[in-house]
Amino acid sequence: MSNISVNYMGLTLTSPIMAASSGLTAQLDRVVEFEKAGIGAIVVKSLFEEQIVNEAEFLQSQSHDYPESADYLHHYLRQNSIDRYLKLVSDVKKSVSVPVIASINCYSTGEWTAFAKDIESAGADGLELNIYSLPLNIHKKSEDIEKEYLNVVAQVSKQIKIPVSVKIASTFTNLPGFVNGLKAHGAKGVVMFNRFYSPDIDIKRIRIFPADAFSYPEESLRELRWMGIVSALVPGIDLSASTGIHNGTTVIKQILAGATTTQMCTALYKKGADAIRQSIDDLHLFMDSQGFKNVSDFKGRLNYANIDNPEKFERVQFMKSFGSK
Ligand SMILES: Cc1cc2nc3c(=O)[nH]c(=O)nc-3n(C[C@H](O)[C@H](O)[C@H](O)COP(=O)(O)O)c2cc1C
Repeated sequence: MSNISVNYMGLTLTSPIMAASSGLTAQLDRVVEFEKAGIGAIVVKSLFEEQIVNEAEFLQSQSHDYPESADYLHHYLRQNSIDRYLKLVSDVKKSVSVPVIASINCYSTGEWTAFAKDIESAGADGLELNIYSLPLNIHKKSEDIEKEYLNVVAQVSKQIKIPVSVKIASTFTNLPGFVNGLKAHGAKGVVMFNRFYSPDIDIKRIRIFPADAFSYPEESLRELRWMGIVSALVPGIDLSASTGIHNGTTVIKQILAGATTTQMCTALYKKGADAIRQSIDDLHLFMDSQGFKNVSDFKGRLNYANIDNPEKFERVQFMKSFGSK
């Protein structure tokens, strides 16, 4: 039988399918189920930088007449959020034997970066930084925003020995260049891409409402191009595909394009651990029928560097395909 184990950022994963960070990976019974189904690694639900800061600021603003108590609350609350998170990481770690990757949602280089050490001490095998700040200042340069991201990665990476990955948005002007910068600043892996909470508009009620939190498999095509290009142009960093990974086919496509691993979230909410089992069966079937013994036999086989017509990845405008129809 084919061997589907992979090495992701120096960690050995029994399969290239990871559980993406979500509410599910904060539930011990669910992560145990995912492990039984063959998940390669668990990314624990994120601790939010803003969650800590906002809660503390709110409480401080409520008690400005008593600055000492505000200080105490600030400290208590922050410590409590952190402690709860560290306990979650260590509980997940005790519940499963696959690698456990902690996750922090962040956007700046604040004092929070010191907590990375505590996360390492809690037993996490890796740390995924989900970095994003919505740019709303029209005078700020894109380059400055990118520098902030790189500083976060550098500051966190130098504090810990466990590997650090960065979960990014797809909206960088020069995505391969940015990934290369992440690598230079200490990232061992990059998760492409985060899927954001989006507003939608109800035209009957003339109102904004939250769009569907769950993805469709077709959405994975967006990362397929970048997986193919980035894996070819930036060697030496592990790429993990996120968004629209719902089944074995989407897993196989991303690996052919150059991904080391894939991450599932929506599929786990909708189909539970069956999504993992079915995808693993499909992966074995694919490898056996194609004569691939290991994942490395086909990883990146269709990336930008390995195909005869790299312009297939370069073509972005529709003129040619419409012209030939
Ligand atoms: C309910 C829900 C909760 C999520 N929570 C987190 C989170 O805490 N941290 C994070 O980095 N991503 C979080 N995500 C994003 C997922 O990890 C994933 O990147 C995204 O849903 C795209 O993958 P999918 O197409 O498999 O759903 C969440 C997504 C959903 C739907």
